[in-house]
Amino acid sequence: MVRTLAVLLLTATPTLAEDSASGARLFGFHCAACHGAAAEGDGPLGDMLTIRPPDLTELSARNGGVFPLARVLSRVDGTTEVMAHGGPMPVFGLILDGPSEVMLAPDGSDVAAPEALVNIATWLIEVQG
Ligand code: HEC
Repeated sequence: MVRTLAVLLLTATPTLAEDSASGARLFGFHCAACHGAAAEGDGPLGDMLTIRPPDLTELSARNGGVFPLARVLSRVDGTTEVMAHGGPMPVFGLILDGPSEVMLAPDGSDVAAPEALVNIATWLIEVQG
């Protein structure tokens, strides 16, 4: 059911490049329960996890002022080594799969990822504190 909703949500999303409004919606749907509506790590599910979800508005601050785009994308996609060994955060590779889009990373390189992930990352970049 959740899966079906996600698919409907994704197919209803207009295919605009780097659409942060869509990213905000997707974040509210898939991520806010743990990371909080404003991505500050204070979602209601956080209390039940052994590891608290991190404040995602501090990603740049904790990375020398540069948004760690590649890490974020692979983290959510479930392709990092950490996830391969299991962790409290679910893997979204299948749910957020879709046509790939290329986005410009803060370091000037191009990064390709499914559109939904690109949109979420675009929104996260906007909310960096
Ligand atoms: C079930 C709770 C839960 C959900 C849902 C969830 N996360 Fe997480 N997330 C966590 C926890 C706990 C961590 C820290 C531990 C870890 O890395 O596994 C984390 C870590 C992360 C990190 C790594 C931060 C860093 O410092 O590298 C990113 C990025 C992230 N989440 C983004 C997302 C996004 C985007 C979504 C939605 C698509 C999402 N999360 C959904 C619980 C969750």
